[in-house]
Amino acid sequence: MTEFKPLVFSGVQPTGNLHLGNYLGAIRKFVALQENNDCIYCVVDLHALTAQLVHEDMATQIRSITAAFLAAGIDPKKHIVFNQSQVPQHAELAWIFNCVARIGWMNRMTQFKDKAGKDREQASLGLYAYPSLMAADILVYRATHVPVGEDQKQHLELARDIAMKFNMDFNDKIRPTGLGIDIKVGEEPVHAYFPMVEPLIDGPAPRVMSLKDGTKKMSKSDPSDLSRINLMDDQDAISKKIRKAKTDPDALPSEVDGLKGRPEADNLVGIFAALADKSKADVLSEFGGQQFSVFKPALIDLAVEVLAPINAEMRRLMEDPGHIDAVLRDGGERARTRAEKTMNEVRDIIGFVR
Ligand code: TYM
Repeated sequence: MTEFKPLVFSGVQPTGNLHLGNYLGAIRKFVALQENNDCIYCVVDLHALTAQLVHEDMATQIRSITAAFLAAGIDPKKHIVFNQSQVPQHAELAWIFNCVARIGWMNRMTQFKDKAGKDREQASLGLYAYPSLMAADILVYRATHVPVGEDQKQHLELARDIAMKFNMDFNDKIRPTGLGIDIKVGEEPVHAYFPMVEPLIDGPAPRVMSLKDGTKKMSKSDPSDLSRINLMDDQDAISKKIRKAKTDPDALPSEVDGLKGRPEADNLVGIFAALADKSKADVLSEFGGQQFSVFKPALIDLAVEVLAPINAEMRRLMEDPGHIDAVLRDGGERARTRAEKTMNEVRDIIGFVR
């Protein structure tokens, strides 16, 4: 049985400041994956319109996410870095997926419910269809692996459902084209044009929590800036935020099990582990039995050591927007070639005349 060629794809929205959750849950993994994989990383500007239509600083935000990708160590020559709107095939495939996905599936999306809030009637149609565009982002390259934070898990399950339904519904049309591949979904053999994407969510910090409340996700939209570390924060800000981070009065446990029921301790240990490329168990074998008064200064040193060079490089890159735009244009061109190949095949499978 042949397999789909492994390809990594992920995206980040150009809305608000990037924070430590985005870095540890996503961007740091993007960097590690490029060693052994073909990777495509996208600034998803079309997604940014779903919650708010008009952005005064759209171009700056797109450049700033791109700068973060580059500063963190993504190589835009070996891999592809671009912004979504430069490849219209994403939106085209999303339309087809809007006709594949069922309304019942979309109604289950918790992120839509959270973002639309109480007044759902006033949410944009784009916010509702958001996961369908996300599936198209990935599948327009027939990508197989998607590094994301835990909050995107449900969206990736939907992408698998969309791929599966497309494969099933067009089964008889895919076979004669010779474009499909026999795969197994569970025990079931399926002739597939689109792969079943694998989310890559593991690691010690798949869900980085607020520094003020260990039960709430660290988020761009939290009104308190003390709740998150931003990638653009300087050393003083990082230090102040970690010093003020909520903790409990106990010493750190020596075993991971001892973090149960201690969300703030669990979060800080997870952050330390992710920044140090260690497991939580490793961190606890070093700090078990220590008070936060010892652990926090060590965490501050580590966070500054990792984040300060990224911060400095982002600032340097942001002074040369022409260079960033050239990177995006070059990536956009290469992405477009690949995406157009898929779209031609999809048009043939559907039976559109071209
Ligand atoms: P976005 O822009 O909200 O977030 C970018 C990435 O950061 C991760 N993340 C976190 N990880 C751990 N802890 C946190 N507190 C935290 N907050 C955010 C997110 O999981 C994400 O990986 N829908 C996506 C963007 C997208 C996409 C795609 C991703 C569009 N198309 C295709 C993958 C594939 C989003 O809004 O991410």
